[in-house]
Amino acid sequence: MATEQYHEPPEELSQKTRTLARMLTSLIEEAEAINWYEQRISVEKNKDAKAIMRNAQKEEFKHFGMDLEFLLRQKKEFRETLQGILFQPGDIVEHGEEAEDSVD
Ligand SMILES: [Fe+2]
Repeated sequence: MATEQYHEPPEELSQKTRTLARMLTSLIEEAEAINWYEQRISVEKNKDAKAIMRNAQKEEFKHFGMDLEFLLRQKKEFRETLQGILFQPGDIVEHGEEAEDSVD
């Protein structure tokens, strides 16, 4: 369904909000694809089929990353929060709490 990504009447939403909704939906779909490939790879016995699925899953990592970067460029608070969490060693929950506190 074309409007499942909306929780409010689409005609009342700005173009920017509709684009964000599309990209957030895409991000979810890329995460689902990563999950589906992960599960298929884990049970596939055929070596060639497994290699093809691993290759396909790498594409989904790229798609997820591009979608996420787009979203982070649109939402300053989202970017600032994730900057405090991602690619840092240490306690993830601690970083999350600190990131949330520092963004306002
Ligand atoms: Fe994809």
